[in-house]
Amino acid sequence: MPTTMPASVSRTDVQPALTFRAMNEADLDAVCAAENRIYPFPWTRGNFIDSLHSGDAAWICEAAGVPVGYAVVSLVLDEAQLLNISILPEYQGQGLGTLLLHHICAEVRQRRAARLFLEVRPSNDAGRALYQRFGFHIIGQRKGYYPAVDGREDALVMALDLEAPAP
Ligand SMILES: CC(C)(COP(=O)(O)OP(=O)(O)OC[C@H]1O[C@@H](n2cnc3c(N)ncnc32)[C@H](O)[C@@H]1OP(=O)(O)O)[C@@H](O)C(=O)NCCC(=O)NCCS
Repeated sequence: MPTTMPASVSRTDVQPALTFRAMNEADLDAVCAAENRIYPFPWTRGNFIDSLHSGDAAWICEAAGVPVGYAVVSLVLDEAQLLNISILPEYQGQGLGTLLLHHICAEVRQRRAARLFLEVRPSNDAGRALYQRFGFHIIGQRKGYYPAVDGREDALVMALDLEAPAP
């Protein structure tokens, strides 16, 4: 995955051609480079390798052949946990995270998950807006769950009932 995207690829160019493929270890140089640009406290290469080796589902999201994001989900029985959902900075706020989350919900429904859980920082306005629109509800809070520049930040725990009608 390149760390910069062609300036000629615009929102209207890419949205109709959004596709998803399984992430594999050959993607990890690019994924980790993207992760380091997106997050102040990024996943390490080891985190991604552990996920891939443990059988988590992981996808690269491509727009007109250009990688624009990725996601990792763990599935245990009928419960799914969204571990990572990321859109590259230059593509955020264009509806691609919404399309990626639709894909994730469809995939885990197909694999018979009944609920999808996630954690999000209270300060993550884009993440919270995305999840709330999908119908996720806050079901708990983990004190000091995340590292933060000035100490620790709580996590909001959210859940989506996948057996309810799709948004
Ligand atoms: C969170 C993320 C996946 C959302 O993807 P996206 O493509 O940027 O989001 P979309 O364009 O589909 O918009 C989703 C919602 O977020 C809102 N949103 C997008 N960017 C926003 C911002 N910077 N601030 C506030 N709201 C924002 C949109 O308005 C939209 O809400 P609406 O439909 O109610 O208007 C993406 O921004 C991202 O990768 N962020 C960094 C990594 C991250 O925080 N991952 C989630 C960790 S829990």
